[in-house]
Amino acid sequence: DADVPRPLTEAERWIQLREDVADCRRCRLSQTRTHTVFGRGTPQQARWLLIGEAPGAEEDRRGEAFVGQAGRLLDAMLDAAGIDPDAEVFIANVLKCRPPGNRNPERDEVAACEPFLHEQIRLVKPDCILLLGRFAAQSVLQSDLQIGRLRNKLHHITLDDRQVPVVVTYHPAYLLRNQQDKLKAWEDLCLALATVTEAAGE
Ligand code: URA
Repeated sequence: DADVPRPLTEAERWIQLREDVADCRRCRLSQTRTHTVFGRGTPQQARWLLIGEAPGAEEDRRGEAFVGQAGRLLDAMLDAAGIDPDAEVFIANVLKCRPPGNRNPERDEVAACEPFLHEQIRLVKPDCILLLGRFAAQSVLQSDLQIGRLRNKLHHITLDDRQVPVVVTYHPAYLLRNQQDKLKAWEDLCLALATVTEAAGE
């Protein structure tokens, strides 16, 4: 039927999504942001999807995810785990715009931005999702529990009939202030790594 538009290809859906995020006016953060931050990495070959909270000052200025101090710690941790952040990972945030003064995301802002994150999850089709911090964990797992109750165990979400392993850990910005919890974050990363290695039959 010529009247029925053909569904978009995945490549077209990425382009559409990037445009929708760049033009977004769904919440008040669009009035104070400098740039939207879509995410970084190579979605086509990413086995990992990492999800943080929201852009900080540096990310807002540059329009790129996790390029400040927290991002440098995150890249160092991935590197130590043998994961190439430039090749195997896509890194996104719950919010695509910076909350003023880095305040916490509001519930309605998370709700307004969630469809973008969900489409990113569907398109990346990761082998494992690593949730960084409370806001990513609570949003993706639809939970009210604190990080201490959610980390160090394997969760799953269902994505297009596929079970995707999900691991929760501390946010790298938190780890910069709480060095004593770095070892726990390392354990979480190893847990996530084990699920991916297992899935690949390595
Ligand atoms: N913190 C986040 O959660 N995301 C970023 O992109 C940078 C800092």
